[in-house]
Order: sequence, then C-alpha cells, then structure tokens
Amino acid sequence: MAHYQSMGSIPPKRHTQHRRPAGRGKTGELYYEELMGEEGFSSDSSLLYHRNIPSTIVDAQVWEVGDLSTTPNHPLKPLHLQPHALFPDARTIKATDVVTGRRLLLGNGDVRISYAVAAAPSPWYRNGIGDECVYVERGAARVETVFGAFEVAQGDYIVIPRATTHRWIPKASRKEPLRAYAIEGNSHIAPPKRYLSKYGQFLEHSPYCERDLRPPQGPLLAEDVGEKADAETEVYIKHRGSGPASSGGIVGTVHTLPFHPLDVVGWDGCLYPYVFNVRDYEPITGRVHQPPPAHQVFEGWNFVVCNFVPRKVDYHPLSIPVPYYHSNVDSDEVMFYVEGDYEARKGSGIGQGSISLHPGGHAHGPQPGAAEASIGAEYFDELAVMVDTFRPLDLGEGGLACDDGRYHLSWSGGRGGRGGRGAAGEVHSID
Ligand SMILES: [Fe+2]
Repeated sequence: MAHYQSMGSIPPKRHTQHRRPAGRGKTGELYYEELMGEEGFSSDSSLLYHRNIPSTIVDAQVWEVGDLSTTPNHPLKPLHLQPHALFPDARTIKATDVVTGRRLLLGNGDVRISYAVAAAPSPWYRNGIGDECVYVERGAARVETVFGAFEVAQGDYIVIPRATTHRWIPKASRKEPLRAYAIEGNSHIAPPKRYLSKYGQFLEHSPYCERDLRPPQGPLLAEDVGEKADAETEVYIKHRGSGPASSGGIVGTVHTLPFHPLDVVGWDGCLYPYVFNVRDYEPITGRVHQPPPAHQVFEGWNFVVCNFVPRKVDYHPLSIPVPYYHSNVDSDEVMFYVEGDYEARKGSGIGQGSISLHPGGHAHGPQPGAAEASIGAEYFDELAVMVDTFRPLDLGEGGLACDDGRYHLSWSGGRGGRGGRGAAGEVHSID
C-alpha cells in the first residue's frame, strides 16, 4: 500500500533519537524504532516507535495450529460448500474465536481459505506466512493492531500485512454473530498493479481509490484499551516450519512478552492494515458481459480476489445478462455468495452463505434455461466474493465437512450420481 500515513508521536527525522517526555532538566528514555518492511526492505515499509524492545520474549512454546491438512479434489468435481453448517449452534459460536477457531475450507501452496463464526475474543496473533484478507460476511468486530484499531462490520475486507500483531474482538450479538471469511496468502495481498500509477496512486479507471480505504485509528496503547502496559502477554504466531507436507509445513508458536503488545506511540509509512468495504466498489458494466477481471479487487501471488456487486447488467439490445459457459483453464474459481436475492435459485442448492468451487479442467456456467430467462433483466442484486487461484485447490477438513456432495450433478437435471439427489442447477448470474 503506497499511500503514506503518519500517526502519533514520531521524530522529525527518521533513525534519530526519539525520547519519552521527562521532567525538567532530565532526558527521557529512548523509544525503540522498528523498521517493518517488505521484500527485503526493497518495497513498502513503516517505522514504528515502541516503548519496549520489540524482540523481547520470556518464553516460547509450541502452538498446535489445528488441522491444516488438505485432500485433493479427486475425482475432479465442481463443489458446493455450506460453511454455515460448520458452526451450527450458539454454544459452538460462543467458544470460537476468529484466529484459533477458523476452519480450513480450501487451500494450496499459495493461499488458504477458512471460515469462522465467532463470539469469543481471539488471542493476540501474528501471521508470519503472509498477508491476510478477512471478509466480514455478517456481524461486527473490533480489530486491534499495533498500528491502531478498526471497527469492522458487514461487507468489510480487512487486509492485515504479514507479521502484524493483532486480535479480534467480536461485538456481542445473538442475532448477527461475526461471520469471517479468511483469505490467507503465502504472499502479500494488494490492489491489482493495473489500477495503480507507477508511483502507486490509484488511477482513474480503478473501481476504488484511496478515499475508499480506512486506515487504522491510532496510535493505540495498552491504557487506551483499559489494560496494563506491563501485562505479560501471549502472542500466537503462525509461521513457516517443518510441519506435515499435507499442511504446507505450517506450524505455530506462542511467544510470551513481558509487556503488552500495544506499545507503539507512533508510526509512519506505507505498510499498515486497512479496511475496504465492498459497497464502495464501483462496478464496471458494459453493453455485453464483462469478464471476471473487471470485478477484481485484490491480488496475491498466484491468486486474485474479485467481487460481484449489485449492478446494472448488460444493456446491448441483444445482450444475454448471465455469463456464457466458460473454461477458466488456468484457474480454480471459488465463489462465496454473501448477499443478494437468491429466491430464483431455490432448488439449485446455492444460496446466501454458499461457496462454490469450479475447478480448472471443467467448463461451467448457468443452468439450462437460465440464459433465456435472463434476457431483459436490467439489474442484478447480488453480492459475491470470488477467489481465483492459479494452482488447484485441495479441500481442508472444514471443506470436506460441509461439501453437499451433489453439486456436480446440478447441470444434468438430476441425472446420474448413483442415487444422488441431483440439484436443479446453477441459476445465478455471476461468473
Ligand atoms: Fe466462473
């Protein structure tokens, strides 16, 4: 993120003395400057000024990160996952936090997609493997980071850079618990390069720009959240290691700090977490069907994130608003149907909260009859978040547990499946 921010107390010149306030005639203690930078300090970075030496730990223990094993999607099938079913009751939700309770749906060597419905506050957490982009499907939370705090709610993406210490505190609500869809890259996650000038400013053709991004409210110190600055604190770190190959080698460690992690009195730079709400995405429409790249919002290494927002649909006099059948030959497509009117989809199996996987090597598109039925439509009130990966996705334990097992028959009108129920078909308009 090349958009410069500065918050709190920083010295006028970088890498120079910055001291705590002290009494008259006394010299205050130095703050501890930390350069947090990407790509070997050849890319974006920020300077953070800590009260404590940021390397200090008093203990390190193994964190068992849970089941991150994956199973190949073999034999090859399009899938319909129903992640709401993984968190079926209030008791489960009450005991779940967004960090340790997320269930792995799909993953490969570049990205992992997980889901959690959480009411419990998370521990302090740092992902040392890559950036996280967490989409808030429903509910609300406060996310506290060393850069500052965010209030996040329905439709927000929060992008959290690798190694950012933070925690999730869901807002209590029986009606709308926090539903979080976590996209964990093994890389950085950023706006597509083609939206940016050579110096990083959003260009005029981009569907969103700097004004749409919410920076953290900072600085944020322990006393600001009613906690003690010297409180010994555990930080859960997910990191690269020698875990099982089927889990991507991912392991975890809990570091104990002899102080509270919210000790940054000021920071500046271009590397920090931020929030973007999907409602601020201006859809690109056309006389004929626009391809998925027109809906892109972020990119990581070997994957992209797109969103399909409510929009005016194709207006050529002979247009067909639903997509053509398509073979995305280099990608697996994961569509998370988050909001919209899915009444017309009754019987298809796909509805709000559904996730479809359309793997490479298999063409997909609307059900028989949907193209004809869409002619004359002027507006689609649909909202979906899509992740396209360039390497095949395997199923995580959560994905296996909520696969409906019959979606691959949804274009055949119920034929086949060796006794499978046979869904009515894919009737949605998005890709
Ligand atoms: Fe598609």
